[in-house]
Amino acid sequence: MQTWLVTGGAGFIGANFVLAARRLGAARVVNLDLLTYAGHPENLESLKHDRDHEFVHGDIGDEPLVAKLLAEHRPDAIVNFAAESHVDRSILGPQAFIQTNIVGTHALLAGALKHWQGLSAAAQRAFRFLHVSTDEVYGSLGPNDPAFSEDHQYQPNSPYAASKAAADHLVRAYHHTYGLPTLTTNCSNNYGPYQHPEKLIPLMIQNAVAGRPLPVYGDGRQVRDWLYVEDHCDAIRAVLDKGKPAETYNIGGNAEKPNIEIVQTLCRLLDGRFPDKAPHARLVQHVSDRPGHDRRYAINAEKIKRELGWQPAVSFAQGIERTVHWYLDNDAWVKAVSNPDHRDWLEKNYQQQGRGI
Ligand code: NAD
Ligand code: DAU
Repeated sequence: MQTWLVTGGAGFIGANFVLAARRLGAARVVNLDLLTYAGHPENLESLKHDRDHEFVHGDIGDEPLVAKLLAEHRPDAIVNFAAESHVDRSILGPQAFIQTNIVGTHALLAGALKHWQGLSAAAQRAFRFLHVSTDEVYGSLGPNDPAFSEDHQYQPNSPYAASKAAADHLVRAYHHTYGLPTLTTNCSNNYGPYQHPEKLIPLMIQNAVAGRPLPVYGDGRQVRDWLYVEDHCDAIRAVLDKGKPAETYNIGGNAEKPNIEIVQTLCRLLDGRFPDKAPHARLVQHVSDRPGHDRRYAINAEKIKRELGWQPAVSFAQGIERTVHWYLDNDAWVKAVSNPDHRDWLEKNYQQQGRGI
């Protein structure tokens, strides 16, 4: 069995990835996570007795720690999920994004390179550094523009997107200059279990259930492409397995939707579950927009389909229903992550920004 060093594996996508990898017996996992406000050990509860999952509390920017883990575990691959991931937080405080997404990713690359240079020729050929990135690096599309393909120009618009773009460039440079066998994936918006309630879908579910306002930024006509998180994890495994070093792969759900439609769908699903509280859509409130808000993202995922045979398996209708049920059925998890830090964030991003809720 392979060994993977997964970073950020206590966060939303990382935890889903680690849980799937262990469920499928795909690899032994060493999981390095700093447990920032976004990292939740609860996500990994089901792996408590799994001897092939080792959790390490630490920073991807801690070079001696990374060197020790690489020497000790000699992983076949590094999969880098660790990041500051929330656009609104990057607007109110970009520094942490520069630190983890750029400086941290660079430290991880430097550690990986040193380790890789000491491997045998065969082990060097087999090794992979997979960097998980985002479609936000490409900037914003007009309503009739073609979807982002891998050669779309980088035009990041938020501090978050700019920090991810910088990291993508460093990953590219480490291949081009030193030969490190890197892979980069640029994915659209994920949704599903274990997503932090600062993000649109879990926030709306949580607020609607509590009878609180549903804060839609601006006119709510901004478009995102939505992918069920397990499909993203499958795609990453396909890239690890069959992707060509130095290549980048766009990953998307073929499910472009305006935000307001997402919120209305959630309200309809909740009306079905709690008819006495219907219509939940009465809670929708249009609030002041996100500064620099990208209008539309869309992914052209033809390359990964053509070259690696991956395409999404879960339709948006299936995925969103599963997601609503998961949040309703996992109240203890929702309560655990709705901690004082999260309440401070709600105060800072909604009340102090004059969004009035
Ligand atoms: P998340 O915020 O839920 O989780 C991030 C995890 O990284 C947390 O567990 C956190 O503790 C950990 N972390 C943060 N700084 C760290 C550091 N310095 N060292 C070690 N661990 C650290 O994020 P997510 O939504 O799961 O996103 C994971 C990755 O996927 C990110 O790189 C993000 O840019 C990318 N991505 C996310 C989406 C999405 O829709 N959520 C879409 C495309 C790409
Ligand atoms: O596109 C991929 C990106 O998707 C990832 O790289 C990011 O890590 C991830 O957070 C996500 O970014 P978004 O900014 O698109 O996700 P978020 O859930 O924050 O917002 C989705 C849309 O909903 C966006 O247009 C802003 C809007 N929104 C969000 C919040 C939190 C609202 O209208 N109201 C809100 O309260």
